[in-house]
Amino acid sequence: MERQFAEERVKELHQTLNEWNYAYYVLDKPQVSDQEYDSKLQELIAIEQEFLELKTPDSPSERIGAQVLEGFTKVQHDIPMLSLGNAFNEEDLKDFDRKIRERVGDNFSYVCELKIDGLAISLKYEDGLFVQGATRGDGTIGEDITANLRTIRSIPLRLKDAVTIEVRGEAFMPKRSFVSLNEAKDEAGEEQFANPRNAAAGSLRQLDPKIAASRNLDIFLYSIANGEEVGMTEHAKALAYLDSLGFKTNPLRRQCETIEEVMMYVEEWTEKRQDLAYEIDGIVIKVNSFSQQDELGFTAKSPRWAIAYKFPAEEVITVLKDIELSVGRTGAVTPTAILEPVRVAGTTVQRASLHNEDLIREKDIRIGDHVIVKKAGDIIPEVVSSLKERRTGEEKEFFMPSHCPECDSELIRIEDEVALRCMNPKCPALIRESLIHFVSRTAMNIDGLGEKVISQLFKEELIQDVADIYFLTQEQLIALERIGEKSALNLIQAIDASRENSLEKLLFGLGIRHVGAKAAKTLAQEFDTLTNLQNASKEELIRIDEIGDKMADSIVQYFSMPEVHELIAELQKAEVNMQYKGPKKIAVEAGETSFAGKVVVLTGKLSILTRNEAKEKIELLGGKVTGSVSKKTDLLIAGEDAGSKLSKAEELGIDIWDEEKLVEELNREV
Ligand code: IVH
Repeated sequence: MERQFAEERVKELHQTLNEWNYAYYVLDKPQVSDQEYDSKLQELIAIEQEFLELKTPDSPSERIGAQVLEGFTKVQHDIPMLSLGNAFNEEDLKDFDRKIRERVGDNFSYVCELKIDGLAISLKYEDGLFVQGATRGDGTIGEDITANLRTIRSIPLRLKDAVTIEVRGEAFMPKRSFVSLNEAKDEAGEEQFANPRNAAAGSLRQLDPKIAASRNLDIFLYSIANGEEVGMTEHAKALAYLDSLGFKTNPLRRQCETIEEVMMYVEEWTEKRQDLAYEIDGIVIKVNSFSQQDELGFTAKSPRWAIAYKFPAEEVITVLKDIELSVGRTGAVTPTAILEPVRVAGTTVQRASLHNEDLIREKDIRIGDHVIVKKAGDIIPEVVSSLKERRTGEEKEFFMPSHCPECDSELIRIEDEVALRCMNPKCPALIRESLIHFVSRTAMNIDGLGEKVISQLFKEELIQDVADIYFLTQEQLIALERIGEKSALNLIQAIDASRENSLEKLLFGLGIRHVGAKAAKTLAQEFDTLTNLQNASKEELIRIDEIGDKMADSIVQYFSMPEVHELIAELQKAEVNMQYKGPKKIAVEAGETSFAGKVVVLTGKLSILTRNEAKEKIELLGGKVTGSVSKKTDLLIAGEDAGSKLSKAEELGIDIWDEEKLVEELNREV
């Protein structure tokens, strides 16, 4: 083929394929068959292979997934990607409306949109060419996932107008694609995704863009980051402009003049949301005019001109098949409901903590009952109540045992506590749980050494106490089920690395009663070495601000035990560091930051920050991170799978933030 002819043909093919693509993926009006599209695409690929210089970044061939990447680079968002405040009911919406009226008067309108349950994405175009796409990350710094985003067919690689623009939207996986992806995963014996949002996020986090290309992802754009720069004056027009550039926006938006109209829209979609091809978790309401948006501005957390109405927690009915008991590392015995698996709020639920016997009595929950299940804060499975009218008489009342389900020693109810405890320090459950605690992220943070491996090692009697971990050999690990040579080596290296941890990790890992991660840090900072702490008297301990009577007693008692001396000697032999390595305390004046003097509790799984990082940052800003929720708590940070602390915080009406919000706030402060 001649070069000149090739160049022209490439141009033609770009135009044709882009048109077909747009018709199919944005307008949802296919013009040609898949075969026809493919044959033209193959023709393009063949030409590009012959004339390499003709392959451009906006070529439709990019959609099938370019080369495998080595990693994702970080991207700074010049215009931060914020999140929204929440509304949960009519009252919240009226409140939102009232505050706007107070600031801008009565002459304004709203735009209501569906709140797509996916992940926020930013797309940059230079002179109409798609140059960079990024995740939200912490709002200020995200990850460059351009190669993966190019595979999303509804993202234009070149705009209909040569503008330089940054647009924002929500990438998501349609329900049907999610179901078939999970079916395929199931057949392949692979772990399934919990919900479409995780599936979309997981797909875009793959280093091989071919995977993202195969996942049938989609996107709705909902804003222009630099709207005023490109001449926009209102949100509704900005969305229409996005349409005209070739973007896909959600057509189900509606302009509303009053909050009553907004509430009707909310009501309508609360009912119809199941019929949509994609999941939504609420409605976003925005003030239309940009000048009024500017006037309203932002609170410390989010814009005053927009709010996210969140749908109420979905409630479903299932059968409570059994109540299982588990023994924690402190010996507390907790009942867990085993449920007939049921889908609720996007995941399949089969277990829910019942916390304690009092709660089971209070709710009159019996084995065999039909129960109502929901997710507290849309995250933690919870048994709401039992349906007494559906009882057959076969249901069994549940009583806590008098003896430990693992070691059979008598359970004790400590004064002022609801939990029953196994007090046998040799109880296998207790030891196993302490070992799991020792290797966990906030403690010694030994990568790859999770609950399963620890349980196996313990069962095989390869470890009896935490010091034994440091004497494990690669051969012993390989002998375990499902551990190959490579992972055994990784484990040994991770164990090795943990020897260098700063003292507070070890202190927390030892699991001294009442010594949480925060106290461990304080103790490490104050005493510098484990030996110093071992020699500290109760008086010396309580002189420290955060150390109370109970904790001081517990520490003194712990270090007086001969078994503990032996354990420490073993850890010394294993060359585990026993010295504090972190920064010395920074004093922050009260009132200087929004965390100053605040009592914060972290719970659930964090994914952007490690627990420790979160804690450290909050503390650096003068906050106090404690372990349990009480009336004194000012703020709860709930990560994924948060448990009883979240329910308790809800009960007490404590402020609850998700991790995103925490990160946003931290960024604002630092
Ligand atoms: S507007 C200033 N519109 O919901 C923030 N967000 O906290 C502008 N979302 O993380 C966001 N659908 O990822 C907006 N139609 C929509 C949305 C939407 C989903 C997500 C977005 C953001 C979160 C709001």
